Amino acid sequence: MKKITIAIDGFASCGKSTMAKDLAREIGYIYIDSGAMYRAVTLYCIENGLFNGKEVNTAQLREEIKNIQITFTLDPETRRPRTQLNGKDVEERIRTMEVSSRVSIIAAIDFVRAALVEQQQAMGADKGIVMDGRDIGTTVFPNAELKIFVTASPEVRAERRYKELQEKGETADYEEILANVKERDHIDQTREVSPLRRADDALLLDNSHLTIDEQKQWLAEQYRKAIQA
Ligand code: DC
Repeated sequence: MKKITIAIDGFASCGKSTMAKDLAREIGYIYIDSGAMYRAVTLYCIENGLFNGKEVNTAQLREEIKNIQITFTLDPETRRPRTQLNGKDVEERIRTMEVSSRVSIIAAIDFVRAALVEQQQAMGADKGIVMDGRDIGTTVFPNAELKIFVTASPEVRAERRYKELQEKGETADYEEILANVKERDHIDQTREVSPLRRADDALLLDNSHLTIDEQKQWLAEQYRKAIQA
């Protein structure tokens, strides 16, 4: 069967990853969460003292970026990918509020983006990949056969994130999360390098009022159409 590249972009916490992961698992494609890569670089900066408050030492990061290896392994039980930073599993640590509140700063740095985009393009060289992020359809795979741009209202997204954190037993404050979602939207859309925007040929999916099952069905349908095209 024809193998294609599937690019899923959209706002923070709009359920992109869940739908992208599930689709990849069902159709036997590789799934890459590009946000996890920016989060892993952020965690590296936190753990290695490259942050001074909200400022990052870019000169040092420029030196060290080539030593930051991000890979993914498949969890044998869930068959979902887990993020590794220089060989260590960081899947839980990259999802904390501490990382979430700093990742936009790292994702706005041009040489960080250049390094990660290069790695992402190498991962997708043979097609058969679903990648989600902010610039996948515009910058990483502009020729992807199927591009989706996902959106939902900030309130709906904050509510989902709040429940997720609560389920993990992390302390969560709805207002703080909502402020973080809005701040990240603003930074993601206004940064100079690869701002978040819908590619002209991306299909729009507003999932504010869809269940996970409904959006999965919608996505499966788009995939079927794309491989028949
Ligand atoms: O999808 P996420 O929330 O895990 O992404 C974390 C951050 O990384 C988010 O603030 C935007 C940034 N990001 C990006 O700039 N480009 C991507 N392709 C993926 C994520």
